[in-house]
Amino acid sequence: MTIIDIINKKRLNKELTREEISFAVNGYVKGEIKDYQMSSLLMAIVLNGMTDRETIDLTDIMINSGDVLNLKKIDGIIVDKHSTGGVGDKVTLVLGPLLASLGIKIAKMSGRGLGHTGGTIDKLESIKGFNTKISEEEFIEQVNKINIALVSQTANLVPADKKIYALRDVTGTVESIPLIASSIMSKKIASGADIIMLDVKVGNGALMKNIEDARELSHLMVKIGASYRKPTICLLTNMEEPLGYAIGNALEVKEAIETLQGNGPKDLLEVVMTLCSIIIGAVKKIPHNEAESLLFKQINNGKAYKKFEELVAAQGGDINEIKISDKVFSIKSDKSGYINKIDALKLGEIAKKIGAGRNTLEDKIDYEVGLVLTKKVGDYVSKDDELVKVYLKDKDVSISEILSCFKIDKELTNLPKLILDIIK
Ligand code: URA
Repeated sequence: MTIIDIINKKRLNKELTREEISFAVNGYVKGEIKDYQMSSLLMAIVLNGMTDRETIDLTDIMINSGDVLNLKKIDGIIVDKHSTGGVGDKVTLVLGPLLASLGIKIAKMSGRGLGHTGGTIDKLESIKGFNTKISEEEFIEQVNKINIALVSQTANLVPADKKIYALRDVTGTVESIPLIASSIMSKKIASGADIIMLDVKVGNGALMKNIEDARELSHLMVKIGASYRKPTICLLTNMEEPLGYAIGNALEVKEAIETLQGNGPKDLLEVVMTLCSIIIGAVKKIPHNEAESLLFKQINNGKAYKKFEELVAAQGGDINEIKISDKVFSIKSDKSGYINKIDALKLGEIAKKIGAGRNTLEDKIDYEVGLVLTKKVGDYVSKDDELVKVYLKDKDVSISEILSCFKIDKELTNLPKLILDIIK
C-alpha cells in the first residue's frame, strides 16, 4: 500500500478501506506522509466526499491517535456542549455555570478562535489570571467539587486532528462535511462526556452556510455519536447576524456576565435557554417548560452568576480584572430605515483585524478590543444614530467597511428565525 495509491483511489471516487485510512492518518501523524501528500488526499475527500462508513472509521482512527480521557471518577452524567463556531458566540460562558448551578456536571475542553470565529479559551483568558491549562487530576477534582471546569485541550488529545486541522486551514480543505464531522466528533468522544450537545451554527457567519448542509452534518454527527453509544443532539441555530451585541474577548465575557445576572440580549438568552432545556431534559427527564422555569429561577436568584464567580476563582482568575480598552469610537448610521441584515462574517473579520482574533496560531490576541453593536436586525435607525461602538488599541478600522456590514432599507423584510431545527 502506498499513499499515492490511496490518493488516486479517492480521486477516482472509490471507497477507502479502514486500513487505507489508517495508513494515511497514522503515517501523517508520524511524519512519514508529507504535508503535500496529505493535502492532496484531503482535497480529493473535499471533492468526492466519504461514505458514512469511511467517516466513522476516520473518526475512530483519529480518536485512537492519542489519549482518551477517562472521566469515570466524576460522579453523575457529564455533559459536553460544543459550537461549530460563530461570531459573538459566548453561549458556553452562560450555559456552563447555569447548568452547573443545577448540579449538572460540565467537564469541557474548549478551543481557541481561528479565522473569523472566536474561541471560549481566548475569552476566558481575558479574565486576569484565569488558568485554562490545569492537569487532568485537577480537572476531575474541580468538576466533582463545583460541577464545572472549562479547560483547553490537552496536548495529546486527538493529535491527528490537530495536525490535519492546521493543514486544512491553509489548504482550502476545511469545508467538507465528513472532515468537519470527524474532526468535531473525534474530540468530543475522546473528551469522555456522556452526552454531547452540539450547537450547529448556520448562515453567513458560520461554517455551514445553508440549512441543508447543516442538517447533513448534524445527521452524520448523531450517527457517529450513536456508534459510540453517546447520545448526541444537534441544535441548528442562525448565525446570519452576530449572537448578542458584543464581539471580542473581554467584551463577550462582560456580556455573558450580564446575561447570567438577568440582563442578557434576547437572542443569546434564547439559544442558551433552548440548549439548556434540551440538556436538562436529557439528564433529568424534565419537560421543556419546567426546565426553562428552573433555569430562569437560577438566574433570578443569583445562583447562576455565583457559579460563574466560583468557576473563575477555582481556575485562578480575578473577576474584577476584565479589562476593556478605553479608546472607544462610535460609528453612526449614514441613513434611516430598518436593519434587514448585519453581516456576521465581515464583522468577525473586522474584529480579528483590530486584534480580537489571530491569523495564525502564533499571533497574540488583544483581549481588550472588539465591537459592540448598538442595534440588531429588525431595529429601526435614524440617520446619525449609533450602530456600533468600536474598542480599539493600536490598529484602526475603516468606517465605510463597518457601515457596509449593515443592510438598511425603507421596509422591514422577514425577520430570520433563531432556532432552526433539532436533530437527534
Ligand atoms: N470545528 C472543528 O473542530 N473542526 C472542524 O473541522 C470544523 C470546526
